[in-house]
Amino acid sequence: MNLPSETDALSDVLAVRLGDVARLFERALTNDLAAVNNLTQHVERYRGKMLRPTLVVTAGIAVRAHQPADDLVDQRLNTLAAVVEMIHMSTLVHDDVLDEADLRRGGATVNSLRGNETAVMLGDFLISSAFHLCSGVGEPWLNAALGGMTTQLCAGEILQLSHRGNLALDDQTYFEIIRRKTGVLAGACCGLASRLAGAPPELCELLRLYGEELGIAFQIQDDILDLVGDEQIVGKTLGIDLRKGKLTLPVVIHLSRCASPERAKSIDAIQRGDVTLLLECVESTGSLQAARARAMEFVVRAKGRLSVLHPSAASQMLLTIADAALERTS
Ligand code: IPE
Ligand code: IPE
Ligand code: MG
Ligand code: MG
Repeated sequence: MNLPSETDALSDVLAVRLGDVARLFERALTNDLAAVNNLTQHVERYRGKMLRPTLVVTAGIAVRAHQPADDLVDQRLNTLAAVVEMIHMSTLVHDDVLDEADLRRGGATVNSLRGNETAVMLGDFLISSAFHLCSGVGEPWLNAALGGMTTQLCAGEILQLSHRGNLALDDQTYFEIIRRKTGVLAGACCGLASRLAGAPPELCELLRLYGEELGIAFQIQDDILDLVGDEQIVGKTLGIDLRKGKLTLPVVIHLSRCASPERAKSIDAIQRGDVTLLLECVESTGSLQAARARAMEFVVRAKGRLSVLHPSAASQMLLTIADAALERTS
């Protein structure tokens, strides 16, 4: 996700803040047991795009534009940024177990290296450490809000599992799944960061909605990349959604558009996990483009939520992040 040069000064600030976040992250995961440290060092070595910590820090700066700097606010935002990245990583480690994936962030997954039992426990260790770290902020509402958010996220994953192999999955259910499993975390990053930064409730809600809609667009693009992406660039095992019977938006749209015999051919490709053939079918009905168009609607909606912010490098950065969610190839 490339960010524009006019926000260079902000990029420098962000680089420093994300360095602080990484240190908090590492400190919170350091354990008295070498067996634990060996594992956490593995997940620390492979850093992702850091989208969620970036959202926390940038939203916090954006809602405070033209207010004096406040070290305490910055520190609390950094802690929240480390917490959300830990929660995110916990979900990825568990997701790779569910997906039986081998590659994540350009490295071997924990499940492929150490087995499912270790990966499940590491995911638990990460989420437990996240809530422990968060409790240090001393704001019970923050822990409560994050707990509500992770419950929704897990419910989304359960909803997705309950629809595995469901060829009749409708787009309403698809959107409910991705809103919960991806949207609510991105929404919490922006909404809770705004509240920690002292923004009024109406502004926090707009920022939450921005994050949620951005998250939905981000997940649609992720689902598109699962079909058309380059594994070397994306850095994770692709084609998994299909192999695991998870119908994604391009496929849902395609199945709603095509009649037999094309439908039978597509269902055969789905059931055999033939990504190449399915992609050919999906493209023949313009469903990849249609999925991109739906994602773009969410990007436009998300950006619209920011119109109340004072223009600043940080608000510009949030707009750019929304566009980058769709343009990304990794
Ligand atoms: C992957 O998220 C999981 C989804 C919600 C699609 P990211 O693409 O942000 O993963 P990292 O953190 O950069 O590895
Ligand atoms: C996102 O869905 C999973 C989580 C919210 C943990 P995916 O299954 O599409 O994520 P990737 O593609 O494995 O990163
Ligand atoms: Mg997955
Ligand atoms: Mg995916």
